[in-house]
Amino acid sequence: MTVTLIVDVDTGIDDSLALLYLLASPEAEILSIASTAGNVPVNQVAANNLAWLDLCDAGDIEVTLGASAPLVAPLMTTEDTHGPQGIGYAELPISSRQLSDRDAATAWVELVRERPGAITGLVTGPLTNLATAIRIEPELPRLLKRLVLMGGAFQHPGNTTPTSEWNVAVDPEAASEVFAAFSGLPEDRLPIVCALDITETIEMYPDHIARLAERAGSVPPELISESDLSTTRSNASNPLVRHFSDAVRFYMEFHRDHDQGFLAHMHDPFAAAVALDPTIATYRAATVDVELDGTLTRGTTVADWRGMWARPHNAAVAATTDPAAFFDDLIDRVGSLAARLYPPHTRS
Ligand code: RIB
Ligand code: CA
Repeated sequence: MTVTLIVDVDTGIDDSLALLYLLASPEAEILSIASTAGNVPVNQVAANNLAWLDLCDAGDIEVTLGASAPLVAPLMTTEDTHGPQGIGYAELPISSRQLSDRDAATAWVELVRERPGAITGLVTGPLTNLATAIRIEPELPRLLKRLVLMGGAFQHPGNTTPTSEWNVAVDPEAASEVFAAFSGLPEDRLPIVCALDITETIEMYPDHIARLAERAGSVPPELISESDLSTTRSNASNPLVRHFSDAVRFYMEFHRDHDQGFLAHMHDPFAAAVALDPTIATYRAATVDVELDGTLTRGTTVADWRGMWARPHNAAVAATTDPAAFFDDLIDRVGSLAARLYPPHTRS
């Protein structure tokens, strides 16, 4: 069954892999890719989006320019996590594709009005564009078929402050407005929230990259190691594998250097997989809100699981999944895409 999507990203390394996963998925119909500032500034995010579309020989998918800064907070970016251009060590050719004439919030509003009840929104970055769109069209939550977002941390440490997760921490006001706007939808239409609690169980290791390269028919075997020099770059015969590997290596080095092991959390690709097939996870309904004023806790997502606030539910928080099954699926889809685009024995 086709899943029609608006994808809102702060492309970054894992956002990149989420885009590859969707571009490799025949059931995914991407109507529009919205760029938002986050991991890197918005113009770089947009350039990354266009470049990945080129590498995947994608059709004429709209890429819009969105928020250059959060609603209220000053912009923070994280090049130390995702690299100076947001795609790790990958160096993608600059695309000649043009950005859309409309901005991201306008695209959100116009598309959901054109296709009421038909679009799944997937947000893997700060929620600034979506919050702006809801300010323009307050009916947006009811015009969407479903919203899936990567963000927040509940019974799990934060990755930006001790209690806050990056996408929410960058723009807490936007996240607060989005959660408030989705309050009271039917339980089967509540926004699906993929928080760190579950996404930090989705750990990519070098072996996953080796398997993906093999599935793509790429040579030589793509064996990356934490003992490699940081100047090491992939020599994969398959360009998609090469850029994928160079991007993820940077992310794995970041996790290693922050005592998490030579691995990479696949936050955004997991949210993308949930958007295509929510049955890969289980969920727990809650009322979620965002701390805006705490000196220590600003940007923290708080889940009322037991109705203490006497407020309607506004979130279906992803609780459990099968990480191994997720990686089998990701490797098969993206590896197959790489093989289709760049058949073995070709190199460009
Ligand atoms: O906290 C992880 C999230 O923040 C991911 O979406 C990553 O790309 C960054 O945007
Ligand atoms: Ca992201």
